[in-house]
Amino acid sequence: MKKFFAILLSVVFIMSMSACAGGGGGGTAAAADDYMSWSPTPAYFNPDWPTLVMGTAAGFFPFEFIAHEGEAVNDRYAGVDISLAARIGRELEKNIEILDMDFGGLIFALQSGEVDFVAAAMTIRPDRAEMVNFSVPYFTAGQWVVVQIDSPYNSMADLAGRSVGVQLGTTGDFAVTDAEIDFSDIVRFNQPAPGIVDLIAGSIDAFVFDSSAARAFAATHSDRLRAFPDTTFFGAEQYGMAFHLENTELLAQVNAVLERALAEGYIDYLYDNYVAYFSPAD
Ligand code: ARG
Repeated sequence: MKKFFAILLSVVFIMSMSACAGGGGGGTAAAADDYMSWSPTPAYFNPDWPTLVMGTAAGFFPFEFIAHEGEAVNDRYAGVDISLAARIGRELEKNIEILDMDFGGLIFALQSGEVDFVAAAMTIRPDRAEMVNFSVPYFTAGQWVVVQIDSPYNSMADLAGRSVGVQLGTTGDFAVTDAEIDFSDIVRFNQPAPGIVDLIAGSIDAFVFDSSAARAFAATHSDRLRAFPDTTFFGAEQYGMAFHLENTELLAQVNAVLERALAEGYIDYLYDNYVAYFSPAD
C-alpha cells in the first residue's frame, strides 16, 4: 500500500499538480460506510431532486482530494467534505454537483451565485463571516510547517531570512503574511501541490498549511519532507461550510445535518477512515 500510494501520488503530482492523495476504488474501510463511497452521485442521484452546487478546492487531504483522474464530475472526488456533502444531499433531497476551483476563488463564487455552498476545510474567521455565513464548526485544525527532512528548521522563528510558501488566501497565507518574522520571500500558490514540488526542489524552504494536509504531504514524501506544528505561533482553527449571506434557509438545513453528524461522531469517523484507508504508513 505504501509504495502504491507513493507511486500514485507522484503520478498525480506530475499529471495534475492539483491532487494531494489518491487511491484505488473499493477497499474495506471506505466501503464500510454508505456515504464514504467515491462519489455522492451514483448512489444518491435522483432525477426528481434539484441540484445543489458545492464549491470546493481539491488537493487537500483528507477533506477533498481527487480519487480518480478523468471521470465524471462528482466521481473524481473523495474526502470528509465530499462524504458530508453526500449526506447533506440525501437528507435534503438535493443532487450535489461539485465545482472544483482555487481556494482563493471560493468566497467570490458563493457571492456571485456560482455555487450554493462551500465545503473546503474553510476556517471560520470574522473577516470571512462578513462576506458569508458559516455553518456550525465541524472540525478543529491548525497550521503546520512542512520542510525538507534534513533542514535545520523547527519553528517559525527559525524561518527568518528564508522563503516560505503558502496556498493563496488561506489561513496559512494570513498567518505568514502577518508574522513579525523577516522571511526572505512569501510565495503564494493557487494550489498546494506545486508548492510541495517547489519545496522538494529547494526553491522554497518551507510550506505552511493546515495540519492534516501538511502531514499528509510530508508522509507521502517521507524520504524528503517532514512536518511540525508551532503551537506558540499558530492558534487553533475551526472549519465551517460557507453560505451566501442571504441563503439562511440552506444554512439552517445544513446545520441540522452537521449537528446530527457531529452528535454521532460521524465526522471524526470519516476523518479517521479516510486517513487510515489512504495512510502512507500502512
Ligand atoms: N483552513 C484553511 C483556510 O480556511 C485552508 C483551507 C484550504 N482548503 C482547501 N480545500 N484547499 O484558509
